[in-house]
Amino acid sequence: MLAGGTRIVVVMVGLPARGKTYISYKVSRYLAWLGVNCRVFNVGEYRRKLVGAKLDHTFFDPHNSVAISQRLNCATHALQDMFEWFEAVHSGVAIYDATNSTRSRRKMIMDECSQQGVDVMFCESWCDDSDLIDLNIREVKRTSPDYKGVKDIDSVMEDFRRRIDHYSEVYEPVGGDGTRPLAKGKYPLPPTSPTIEDYDEQLVSYVRKINVGSRMVINRITSYLESRIVYFMMNIHIAPRSVLFSRHGESLYNLDQRLGGDPSLSPNGRKYAEALPGLISRLLGDEPLTIWTSTLKRTAETAAGLPYKKLQWKALDELEAGLCDGLTYEDVEREYPEEYAMRDENKFEFRYRGGESYRDVVLRLEPVIMELERQQNIMIISHQAVLRCIYAYFLDIGPEELPYLKIPLHTVMKLTWTAYGCDIQMYKIDIDAVDTHRAKPKTLKRGGTIKGMTSGESSNVSRPDSATPAEISRPAAASPPAKELLAVRTIKREAEY
Ligand code: ATP
Ligand code: F6P
Repeated sequence: MLAGGTRIVVVMVGLPARGKTYISYKVSRYLAWLGVNCRVFNVGEYRRKLVGAKLDHTFFDPHNSVAISQRLNCATHALQDMFEWFEAVHSGVAIYDATNSTRSRRKMIMDECSQQGVDVMFCESWCDDSDLIDLNIREVKRTSPDYKGVKDIDSVMEDFRRRIDHYSEVYEPVGGDGTRPLAKGKYPLPPTSPTIEDYDEQLVSYVRKINVGSRMVINRITSYLESRIVYFMMNIHIAPRSVLFSRHGESLYNLDQRLGGDPSLSPNGRKYAEALPGLISRLLGDEPLTIWTSTLKRTAETAAGLPYKKLQWKALDELEAGLCDGLTYEDVEREYPEEYAMRDENKFEFRYRGGESYRDVVLRLEPVIMELERQQNIMIISHQAVLRCIYAYFLDIGPEELPYLKIPLHTVMKLTWTAYGCDIQMYKIDIDAVDTHRAKPKTLKRGGTIKGMTSGESSNVSRPDSATPAEISRPAAASPPAKELLAVRTIKREAEY
C-alpha cells in the first residue's frame, strides 16, 4: 500500500475541540490495520511534558509572548521526533496533531518537511456548531489531563471557551479565501521557498472537513494513499451507534473440527439461530439494525430468523484454506507438516496453498470497514478468522495477536463507542457449542519459543484475549441489559488529548 521511501505527514488543522485528535487516531488505526507504519505526534502531549498540564487559557493568548515561544518549542520538538521516526521506519504516515491554526505555522511545517523530503497533506476540521463544540468540551475536554482534579464543570467550560477565543483571534483557515488565481506547480515554487506573503496554500494538498463532513473541500490530493485517507475521512461520522458481531451457529464442520467448506448448521447451531432474535431484540429494542452475512450457508441460516434488512457480502466469507479446505488440524499436521509448522511461525502472513492468509483477509475486508464507518447499527454474522480481523480493526490489535483472538461460538459481541474508547459487551447464549480455538503453541515445531504470547491456553475463556489496555469486569448485578451478559470490557485509548 505504501511504496518504499514514501513519507507523508497528515498535518491536522483546526480550533480546539474540533475533533482533530479523534480523527488522528481513527486514521492512524485504519492505516495501521492495513499494514502502514503510522504514528500520531500530538503537540498537546509535548506541551504537557515540556511546559505543564495545568495551564489556564492565558497560555493560549496570542499576545502572551513567553507562551508563544514555549508553544513553538513544543511544536518543533514534536516535528524533530517525527523526522527521527521517519528515519527509523523509512516509509510511513505520521499524523501531526496540533491546531496549526496560522499560515505562518503551516509554512514553517511545509518548509521543514520539504527539506526532509516528507510530503505534507493538511487536514482541517472546521465546525461552527456551537452545541456540538459545547458537547465536545463537556464530554471530552473536562476529562483531559489539562483539567485533572477540577470538579467544577462550569469553570472548565468557561476556561476552554476562552482558550478557543484566543485561537479564533488569529485563526486562518487552510487554503485562504480561494480568490487568488490558481498558480501552477507544487509548493515550494522554485528556486526558493516563498515569503509568507507569497506562501500560497492553493499549491498544497489539503482537505477541509466542514461541520463533521456535511461539506468537504479537497485540494491537490494526488497520491493513492492520500486519496484513501480523504475517502476514509469522508466516511467517518460521530453519530452514536453499535456494531454487533456473531459467528454463525455451530456448523456440521465445527462438530468434526473441519476447516472451511459450506456446511449447514448443526442441531445446536440451529437452536442458536432460533434464540438469536430474542437476544438481539432485548439488546436493541426498537432501534434500527441491518444484518450483514457472508455468502455461506451457515451465516444465512443463522440470520434467517432475524427480522431486519439483510445484506450478503462475499468479503465476509471465511478465510479460504485452499488445499486444506475440509481437513481437520490433525489432518493438516499429518498431510502437510511443513505448512502446518510455517503457519505457527507466522500465522498472520501464512497463505494456504490455493487459499488465503490473514493479511489477504484484512485487505479484502477494507471495503467492509469503510462501509461500516459510514453506517449506523450493524450486526455482522460471519466467521472466526473474518471476525478476528474486524475486531482487530476496532480494537487496534496487531498482526501477532490478531490470528489468535478468541471469538467463541454462540456469543454476541456488542461494541459501542465513546469519544476515546469502546465498550464491549459479550453475551453468551446458553446453548452448547464446540470450541474451535487453537492456541498459539508455546514451542514451535521448527524450534524457538514464541515471544509475546497473549492468547490464553484454557479453551473455555469466553472473551477475546488481547494485549490492548483493558479493564475487564463482571457486570454488576443490576447492570445487565440481558441475562446472557457475560463480560464487559472498556477500552480507553492511552494517549492524551
Ligand atoms: P484540541 O485542539 O483541544 O486538542 P481536538 O480538535 O483535538 O481538540 P478532540 O479532542 O479530538 O478535539 O475532540 C473530540 C470530540 O470531537 C469528540 O467528542 C468527537 O465526537 C468530536 N468530533 C469528532 N470529529 C469531529 C468533527 N469533524 N467536528 C467536530 N467535532 C468532532
Ligand atoms: O489547545 C489545544 C492544543 O492541542 C494544546 O493542547 C496544544 O498545546 C496546542 O493545541 C498545540 O497547538 P499550537 O501549535 O497552536 O500551540
